[in-house]
Amino acid sequence: MSEPIRSFVAVSISEGARNQIAKLLDRLRREAGTVVRWVRPESMHLTLAFLGEVSQGFLDSCGERLPEVAERHEAFTMRLNGLGAFPGPSRARVVWIGTDQGRNEVCSLQKDVSGALSSIGYQPERRPFSPHLTIGRLRVPDDVSRAVAEPFLSDPFAVERVVLFRSVLGAGGPAYSVLAEFPLHTKSA
Ligand code: 2AM
Repeated sequence: MSEPIRSFVAVSISEGARNQIAKLLDRLRREAGTVVRWVRPESMHLTLAFLGEVSQGFLDSCGERLPEVAERHEAFTMRLNGLGAFPGPSRARVVWIGTDQGRNEVCSLQKDVSGALSSIGYQPERRPFSPHLTIGRLRVPDDVSRAVAEPFLSDPFAVERVVLFRSVLGAGGPAYSVLAEFPLHTKSA
């Protein structure tokens, strides 16, 4: 048996949005101190389905299902807007950025991805999907109210594909690599 592969399905953000988030993180680092482990902007993505440790065979099945799911959805424009924290700003474990433009589209895409993968054995999250981009994590919950009050609005960018990522956990944090990409439907294609 081959080694299980830690993986997840996500949409990527633009280079421009990454640069805007990098500038935001410079401000947040000064404000929130060291209690938050900030995510490297190059690793940021919006997760649709966390698959966990799965077999190559399961990934192959995902690779068979996801093209038709992606093709059912039009490419869309997304804009990131506003910060928040899970489970809440006063005892945060996760600091995130939300989305306004493209929110309905990404929710519909997530529902379809989750449904299609459930039919091949994926266990969907019980919690309702809340589209977010994790930008920081805390080992010990803490108050990040000041950080999440920081305004943030990205330039709009195009979401044109669903991406299957591999995650390799390491001392310096997880390293993500692209296993496969599935294009969304584009009118001109
Ligand atoms: P997050 O953005 O809410 O932290 C890779 O680990 C991605 O999968 C992360 O973006 C993470 O979401 C998401 N994910 C969802 N459930 C997870 C879990 N139980 N363990 C690790 N990552 C998870």
